[in-house]
Parts: sequence; C-alpha cells; structure tokens
Amino acid sequence: MAAVAEQIVHVTLGERSYDIVLYPGLLASVGDRLRALTTSLKIGVVTDRHVARRYLQGVLRSLRKAGYDPTPIILPPGEGTKTLGTIAKVLDRLARQRFERQSLLLALGGGVIGDITGFAAAIYQRGIPFVQVPTTLVAQVDSSVGGKTGVDHRLGKNMIGAFYQPRAVWIDPLTLRTLPRREWTAGLAEVIKYGIIADEEFFAFLEKEIPALLKLEESPVMRAIKRSCEIKAQVVAGDERESDRRRILNYGHTIGHALESLAGYRGLIHGEAVGIGLVQEADLAYHMGLCGPEVVERIRSIVQRAGLSGQAPQISFASLWGAMQHDKKVLGGRVIGVWPVKIGEVVIRPIERQVCAAWFQSTHGRGSRLPRGRQPGKHPARRKAVARR
Ligand code: NAD
Ligand code: GLY
Repeated sequence: MAAVAEQIVHVTLGERSYDIVLYPGLLASVGDRLRALTTSLKIGVVTDRHVARRYLQGVLRSLRKAGYDPTPIILPPGEGTKTLGTIAKVLDRLARQRFERQSLLLALGGGVIGDITGFAAAIYQRGIPFVQVPTTLVAQVDSSVGGKTGVDHRLGKNMIGAFYQPRAVWIDPLTLRTLPRREWTAGLAEVIKYGIIADEEFFAFLEKEIPALLKLEESPVMRAIKRSCEIKAQVVAGDERESDRRRILNYGHTIGHALESLAGYRGLIHGEAVGIGLVQEADLAYHMGLCGPEVVERIRSIVQRAGLSGQAPQISFASLWGAMQHDKKVLGGRVIGVWPVKIGEVVIRPIERQVCAAWFQSTHGRGSRLPRGRQPGKHPARRKAVARR
C-alpha cells in the first residue's frame, strides 16, 4: 500500500466530535499528529506484547522526536486481559508515573487494548484524553470508533465499562499486514455486518471482492475500512448511548457474545463468534418470518467464503439462552435482538424464550449443534412462521 491519499471520516458528536484518519504509514506521524490534541508531554502508550514487538519502538520514536515523554504500558495479549484487575494495574502505573488530567493515553493494538485503554482513560482522575490507534481489522472497523470502552465480567462480556469517546482514531492499514490470518478473517465478520445492517451495495461489493480482501489488496481493503467507519460513525452520531438505533450494530452479537462467553473467551475469538452470530441470527429471523430464505443463504455464503464457519460449537439450548440472558442487550428480562428483513435493512425486536426454543428445536431436533444455515425452502418451521406474518 503506497501513495494513497489520507481519508477522513468525521464522527459528529457535538463537543465530543472527532476524526477517524485512515492512511497507510500513519504510525510514523503519531507524534506530529498529537500536537493538535494535547499540551501535556506525558503520553502513556498502552499496548500488548504482540503489537509491542512490531510497532512500539516506531511509535515511541515518533513521539520522542515530537518532544513527548512516552511511558509504554505493555499488557499480555488476548481477551483474558480484559479484566478489572488489568484496569487496576494500568491505573496504578498512571498514578505512580504522576499522570495528570491533561496527560494522554494512546491505545496501540486491537479491540482488547482499545477497550481497556478507553476505560482506564474514562476513570483515571475522572477522565483523561485518549486516542485510538487500532491495529486489527476488528479494531479499525469497529471497536476504536464510537466510545464503547470496558472489560469483561465472569458472567458476561463487556459488562463493566463506560461510554467515553476518543479524541481521534488513527488507522494505519499497513499494520494489517502482520495480522495472523485468523484475526483477519475474524475482522471480516464485522465488515460484512455493516453491509447487512445498512448498505446492500456495500454488501454486494464485499461479495464480489472477498477474494481480493482475503489477499489484502490495497484498494478494496481501504474501501472496506472506510465504508465500515462511515456507517459506524453515522449510527453512533444518531444514538451515542445506544438508547435505540445503535443497537443495530449488535447484529450477530446476541448469539455471538453468548458463544464467546460459553467458550470462556477461549477457543473462539470475537469475530469468529460474530460470524456464527450473523448466520444464526439471520436463520432465526427467517424462522420468525422476518426475512426470506435468500437472505440467510447470502449471509451464510459470504461468511463461509470469508473463511468463517458460521457453525457453532456443541451447546444446549439451555446454556445458549442462559448466556443470552447475561448480555447487556437484555431489557426488562427480554433479549433485544436485531433481525435482517433484507440485505441492508434490519429491525430491532425482543425475542421470547419460546420462539428461540422453537427455532433451536426445529433446526437441531434433539441434537445440540447450531446449524450452518440451510438451503432455501428447507426450513421446517418456515411455513408456520409465514402463516403468522
Ligand atoms: P485483540 O485485541 O485480542 O487482538 C487480536 C490479536 O492480534 C492479539 O493477539 C493481538 O496481540 C494481535 N495483534 C493486534 N494487532 C496486530 C498486528 N497488527 N499484527 C499482529 N498481531 C496483532 O482482538 P480484536 O479482534 O482486535 O478485538 C476483540 C475485542 O474487541 C473484544 O474484546 C471485543 O469485545 C472488543 N470489541 C469492542 C467493540 C467496541 O465497540 N468497543 C467493538 C467490537 C469488538
Ligand atoms: N460494537 C457495537 C457498538 O459499538 O455499538
């Protein structure tokens, strides 16, 4: 990737507005870019060991060259780090280094680092500025934008946290070149999600360009990241605190989060769980009579072509429903789901236990494996659901 113009997506949130800047090679200019955001020279660079090995020295060099005094805070990689214990350690480090209100944190890494850093920034001295420098596809198209920060609880993912917007999001797509294949395909699940919830044309582009995206070709990668950020920015600008429409960003995450939580945040990484959720929640929407079979089929097909299975590990309905109950998407005891009615359009609706149980039973019988999605016309519960519509 070279000689590509800088792309900017604005997130309009009044005094909390900020720019998402997308530029290959951006990491080298982090120090210069910071000048517009803080007068303090104290910068905490929060990262994990994998990212530190590749990118930390370059970022520290850029910061020192611009006159800053950076403190690296290097955490263990992985979802297991997203705990209150880690937050305590980060806060302890900031306090011992005498970080002040104007001191700034840089989140250099994937969604785990972004969520942790944002939450630490939100609560240290009642809030200090932070900048997201995302290095995974999931983080570049989703987690770095929109101000959801926090950590996991034993009983549910992202249960503890705060809405706290970054001052900027700086995306260097060159960092994606070192991303393990598995993390790359997991990120594609979030990209596909945007097509399903908001933009059929973008979905069709993804269907066509999946082979090029899997080869990390510059132009489709830039377009996929930019369009994803545009959709996310627009949704967040309309409903920052998820009182209504922002829920559409949770499409695929109701079942996805439940599976992640059941797997103990091991074995199934976030985007893989979302990939399964995209297929299974479309199948559930079909069962409820909300969309046609071709919607499920297109989603199943693109998820598989992206290298994601769409198929869940062995679980029982009781454990799936139980895990869904511990999600933040539960309101007054009801699970609020997001359901596709066609590609590019979703509706937000609660789902009752009986409906979900009937879907589960009809698709797995006595077996406990969630399905891959099925061929058009083969859904056993479909006729009844259409009749109810
Ligand atoms: P991650 O942060 O765990 O990163 C995945 C792995 O890739 C890690 O091992 C990391 O060290 C490594 N890595 C990161 N960048 C790399 C690079 N450029 N080259 C090589 N290795 C690299 O996982 P993720 O998928 O980025 O994020 C998942 C997390 O994000 C979950 O905790 C999820 O809940 C959260 N999330 C939050 C939001 C939000 O709105 N806040 C949205 C989506 C996901
Ligand atoms: N990732 C869902 C959201 O930001 O709302």
